[in-house]
Order: sequence, then structure tokens, then C-alpha cells
Amino acid sequence: MDVRFNVQTFGCQMNKHDSERVVGRLEGLGAQCVDSIAESDVVVFMTCCVREAADVRLIGQVNTMKSEPIREGSPFGKRIVAIGGCIGPRDGAKLFDELDHLDVVFGTNNLSSLPGLLEDAFVKGVRRAETLEESDSFPTELPTKREHSWAAWLPITIGCNNFCTYCIVPYVRGREKSRPMEDIAQEAQRYVNAGVKEITLLGQNVNSYGRDLYGKPRFADVLEVVAETGIERLRFATSHPKDLTDEVIAKFGTLESLMPALHLPVQSGSDAILKAMHRGYTTQHYLDLIGKVRQACPEIALSTDIIVGFPGETEEDFEGTYRIVDEVGYSQVFTFIYSKREGTPAAKMHDDTPREVIQARFDRLVDVVQKHAFEANQIELGRTVDVLVEGVSKRDSGLLSGKSPKNQTVHAPLPDGVDIADLAGKIVPVIVEEARTWYLRGTLASKVR
Ligand code: SAH
Ligand code: SF4
Ligand code: F3S
Repeated sequence: MDVRFNVQTFGCQMNKHDSERVVGRLEGLGAQCVDSIAESDVVVFMTCCVREAADVRLIGQVNTMKSEPIREGSPFGKRIVAIGGCIGPRDGAKLFDELDHLDVVFGTNNLSSLPGLLEDAFVKGVRRAETLEESDSFPTELPTKREHSWAAWLPITIGCNNFCTYCIVPYVRGREKSRPMEDIAQEAQRYVNAGVKEITLLGQNVNSYGRDLYGKPRFADVLEVVAETGIERLRFATSHPKDLTDEVIAKFGTLESLMPALHLPVQSGSDAILKAMHRGYTTQHYLDLIGKVRQACPEIALSTDIIVGFPGETEEDFEGTYRIVDEVGYSQVFTFIYSKREGTPAAKMHDDTPREVIQARFDRLVDVVQKHAFEANQIELGRTVDVLVEGVSKRDSGLLSGKSPKNQTVHAPLPDGVDIADLAGKIVPVIVEEARTWYLRGTLASKVR
């Protein structure tokens, strides 16, 4: 049977990786992955519910499925619609009441059940939800279809035990579970042997890796064994400041393949708010960590996440956040306005700051973020940086686009007669001639054939 499916991804890197597993699994069964919903017989929505906006967008998109015509030659009388990702475990079968043309709901721990659920939907016409909190097998045991052949995401933990008071993730991803070190090493080695240039280790908090395993291996050990595979570029996300150890920091100075970029979410620059968020560190502790990281790797590119407008945030609390952003001088900051998530402790906290005040704080913060992002890029002017080519620029197909070791986006004119397909996945030197806030631009330093 000719079955075509499309996957729509809404969430974080972990969610994108889960989508790769879904594609791998369904292709393994003979179905064909297509780029658009219009060409598909089955559409899988991999959802995110970390903030309200993502939720609303999803419901809107699933609703439009009703009026989408089915493709000519489709083996079913209708398009099968499945919802996976983080909304699955939160809402479960309730989603069937809200969305009458929805067929399947599956949870983040139930990727392997998807084929059975889809089969029930199209053979028996039964709508089923499977959203177990725990699964027996680590989802990474499933086959993967990677988005790029040269880059791989490698989950080392799933779930989260931190319960930051604003966050829904621990409720939808379950308790933290670490993957055995041998499995990680084997998968990394397989990738290296297959020509992968960059591995990103994933976990909600990679620093707490191994606490549930025999012998309590540490995250620093994982970095060591993955680096030993000979991988060219190694990255990880995300790191929780309360668990970032000196041992891990030291690796930035000693492991050549560990790229000079660290995402260390601070969330707020006020100790009172950090406490109310249940983050487990103070601003001073955070700044001490930044000092140590810069000592180990002076030019490291630092990035962070900030929430503006957490319940009870005063002007003084916000000033603290502004100050820490100004003081650290991040290369990139992901700024979010607090979004109330039902079921989390913060949803019950008193919150009377007017929306306009929060918006004004947010706008002020964005200005200082951009100022530092611009400044951080100026140091690259005139330098030659190694760029891992990803493809052509979205705005100009005559420009190649890739990533520097610090994860900066770099553009350079594609030389005449060079096909981007031959360059994608290669690391090429680019002389930087222009440094903007969100990208660098230059020319290729050597002839590429
Ligand atoms: N485990 C990672 C990522 C969590 S989700 C970490 O701890 O860093 C990514 C980011 O979304 C968080 O860092 C936080 O800044 C933001 N976020 C989470 N819940 C939120 C909420 N309710 N409102 C606004 N932003 C939120
Ligand atoms: Fe959410 Fe905190 Fe866990 Fe990150 S560490 S996923 S912010 S609960
Ligand atoms: Fe990621 Fe969103 Fe789930 S941030 S873990 S996809 S709620």
C-alpha cells in the first residue's frame, strides 16, 4: 500500500529529534515521508506546550485539516491525523472531544506505539490515545531518519526532575531517565563512522546525567567518551546552572572537539524570583560559574533563556535581570514572556503586574540583548572561521549558509560553478568581512572544487 505521511514539528530540539524517530519508524514500515500536508495521507503533529502560544497555534492548524482535500490516489477515505509530542501526555483522549477529525494521540514515551495506533485508525476506524508516563524502552532505540546527514542529535537523558515552578516539561516528559553510557558511545561511534561531523547531546538537564545509573557515571565522562569517537564538533543542551560542575567546565579547555559555546539558562537576575522559580541557585553563584567558564575558554559564546513577568516580578527584580544580561554580555538570549501553565505551582501564584508593564520590560531587555549580540560578533572581523555548511541562505540562494564553532550563522557567496549539494556538510574556512547582530558575512578563504 502506498502510504504517504507528513510530520509537523512545533517544539524544542528534543521534540525535533522525536520527529526524526517518527520518520525513521514509519519509513521503516514502508511509508513515504512527504514535505507537505497536501501530499500526505497521514499527518503527525509533534506538539509543544511550554508556552500558551504554541498550544493555540496547534489547535488552529489541526482545525484547518478538516477542510484540506485528500490527495488523489490516497488509500484512505480521509486524511489520518495524529497528535504526538508534549500535548499528548497532558491532554490525552480529551483532545478527541475538542477535535472531531483527530484519529490518534500518542505521548512522548509512546513513539513505538504509533504504527499500531495508526493501523487501528485506518483499518478499524478506532480513535485511540496512548500516553503512558513511563516506557520500558529508551526512545532512542528506535530507528532515526536524520534531518541532515552530517549532524545528529543524541539524547542522553529524557524527562526532568527539576520542577521549576513555571514549567510544564516534567509533567509531560516524565521523570528523568539516563541512557547507559555504552549505548551513547555506540550510537556516537555509528554516527562518526557514517560521516557525521557534529553531535549535539540532548537532555533537559544534561548535567544531572547518570544519577539513576549503576556506578553513577557523570556528564563529564559522557563528554569524554563521545569525544573519543573522533567526532569533529561536539555540543550539548541544556545545562542547568545548579548542576554545572567544575569538571564539565574544564572540558571546554581540554576537549578540542567541544565547541566554544554554552547555553546556560539563567531565567532571572533576581534572587527572590529565582527562589520562587525553584531554580536552586543565586545570581552570585551563576556569575561565579560564568567567571569559571570564561577562565577555561576565554572566548566562549554564552547564550541563555530569560523569563520576563514571572508572577510577582517587581521593577527591582527586573532591574536585576537587565543587569545580569548587561554584565554577562551574551551572544544570544532567548527571551520569553511568562506564560501561565495550568497544573504548575506558579499558576497559583498571585500575579497582578499589568501586561503593558511586562511588555515594556521585555522590549527594554530585547534592546540590550541585541546590543551585546552585535558586540560579541565584532571580534570575528578579519578572522577566518571554520564554517559547517548547512545549505544556501533562505533569503539569497547565491549565498552559502552555515555555522561557526560558536554557533554563529555565517554567509558567504557560493563560488561560480559550485553546487551547494557538494558543499553541504563540509567544513570550509570563511574570512569574515561583515559582523551583524545575528550573522557574519565573508568570503571563502580557499578554492572549493
Ligand atoms: N530544560 C531546559 C529547557 C526548558 S524549556 C532548561 O531548563 O533550560 C525552554 C525555556 O522555555 C526555558 O528555559 C524557559 O526560559 C522557557 N519557559 C518554560 N516554561 C515557561 C513558561 N511557563 N513561560 C514562559 N517561558 C517558559
Ligand atoms: Fe523545565 Fe526546569 Fe526541567 Fe528545564 S530544568 S525542563 S525549565 S523544569
Ligand atoms: Fe520541548 Fe515544548 Fe515539550 S519545549 S520538551 S516540546 S513542551
